[in-house]
Amino acid sequence: MVDVSIVVAAAENGVIGADGDMPWRLSTDLQRFKKLTLGKPMIMGRKTFDSIGKALPGRTSIVVTRDSEWQAEGVVAVGSLDKAFDLALEIANADGVDELCVVGGGQIYAQAMDRADVLHVTTVHASPQGDTVFPAIDLAVWQAVHEEPVPAGEKDSATTTYRVYRRKKAG
Ligand SMILES: NC(=O)c1ccc[n+]([C@@H]2O[C@H](COP(=O)([O-])OP(=O)(O)OC[C@H]3O[C@@H](n4cnc5c(N)ncnc54)[C@H](OP(=O)(O)O)[C@@H]3O)[C@@H](O)[C@H]2O)c1
Repeated sequence: MVDVSIVVAAAENGVIGADGDMPWRLSTDLQRFKKLTLGKPMIMGRKTFDSIGKALPGRTSIVVTRDSEWQAEGVVAVGSLDKAFDLALEIANADGVDELCVVGGGQIYAQAMDRADVLHVTTVHASPQGDTVFPAIDLAVWQAVHEEPVPAGEKDSATTTYRVYRRKKAG
């Protein structure tokens, strides 16, 4: 079985992005992101790819765009979220990994939430202004199975709490 995981850092007010970037500096969380995603297929929106600016090594980036001409070095472009999930599942099965990761941004999270089994959520203890938000986590649907306060390291602009949620079983 391949779990569909969402990986996100969201502020207390739900903000995840501002002006095409993230409104904080969180080196510790970027290290966690790397550990969580290495070796696994990642699905992202074209705007998130633009904000990262390059293919991240050690994992396949599947970029969702409606622009059939769009391409970038080292990534696979697909025209729909369905195609992105089909391809990510194929890659996960071929590589023998048990998770595929949806890594944003706001548009893609909103469309992928219903398909996710697991949420890896870093809550950033700040309330920055921004233009992109993460959908509310409905605790009737999601159960926190791990919670870990993370102090701010030297290269972090805020303290955070890392939580893992699993979708509750129906019935
Ligand atoms: N805090 C975090 O964890 C985190 C993580 C990731 C991103 N972010 C932030 O989030 C922001 C970007 O998010 P965003 O919501 O603006 O954009 P996004 O979700 O990254 O990308 C949106 C783009 O994806 C494509 N797309 C979306 N739905 C599609 C569909 N159903 N079929 C085909 N293509 C589709 C379109 O690309 P085209 O326009 O090319 O057609 C659309 O413009 C940035 O500020 C970024 O820094 C934060």
